[in-house]
Amino acid sequence: MNWELEQVRQARKSFDRILQHKVYTEVIRDDGHLALLLELIQGGCYKSILDIGTGTGYLAFPLAEIYPEALVFGIDIAGGIIDKNRERVRKEGKTNLVFQTFNGIEYPFEEGSFDLVVSRYAFHHFPNPESAVRQISRLLCLGGKVMLSDPVRAKKDQGGIIDAFMKIKKDGHIRFYTEEELERMFAQNGLHKEKQIFTHMAFPFAQGSAYSELYGQLMDKDRLLYDIVEENGVIWVRHIAVGNTVFKKI
Ligand SMILES: C[S@@+](CC[C@H](N)C(=O)[O-])C[C@H]1O[C@@H](n2cnc3c(N)ncnc32)[C@H](O)[C@@H]1O
Repeated sequence: MNWELEQVRQARKSFDRILQHKVYTEVIRDDGHLALLLELIQGGCYKSILDIGTGTGYLAFPLAEIYPEALVFGIDIAGGIIDKNRERVRKEGKTNLVFQTFNGIEYPFEEGSFDLVVSRYAFHHFPNPESAVRQISRLLCLGGKVMLSDPVRAKKDQGGIIDAFMKIKKDGHIRFYTEEELERMFAQNGLHKEKQIFTHMAFPFAQGSAYSELYGQLMDKDRLLYDIVEENGVIWVRHIAVGNTVFKKI
């Protein structure tokens, strides 16, 4: 199996399990963050919206509600949650919201199909980010927008300490990108930064010797980058910036 498909397989296995757990979905739920993201894209007359890595439809459901004129697609690699979302669509009688699975690499839509593409907390799982951004640009019509929300790597984290922690979980984590890397990747595909707001998040790494070992190898200056601390055997990343950015295709 090629490397990209293997990464997707690993992510699918992990998310098919954890997205069924309320504890996990509650951890990544954040009503303040949702309100901020919706405000960032406010004002557009969207007709067709794509949510990549939709999970529970955390963005897709409210988008379908707020933009009744738009057809909203939520895609994900994890089949279990897509089935659950479809069931919810049916129960709520929604007519402008469609969920579908895909292979995590090729977006199954025609050129110029969307005027808005959104993605929250998923980009760091994409095995080929350059290809993902190229495809997103192709899927957008001219003047269309992308709203990307994902943790950003600290500029000074050249050794990728944050990725080393994230990869222990084996959930298909690929990499967090610096703000500059992201901007370059998007600009190369005709997507230019229009708006940006930073938020931040904190998360614990479950107790485990692999986390403690890695923590023990860090220098103080590395720990300070994300305020990484150990409390009762649990390693905490107490501050990682999240970039919430709107890019426009021009
Ligand atoms: C942290 S969850 C975020 C879910 C949702 N966007 C939210 O904000 O609640 C990450 C999501 O990305 C999905 N994912 C992982 N790899 C992916 C890939 N290659 N392409 C698309 N989605 C992917 C996972 O299945 C999961 O639903």
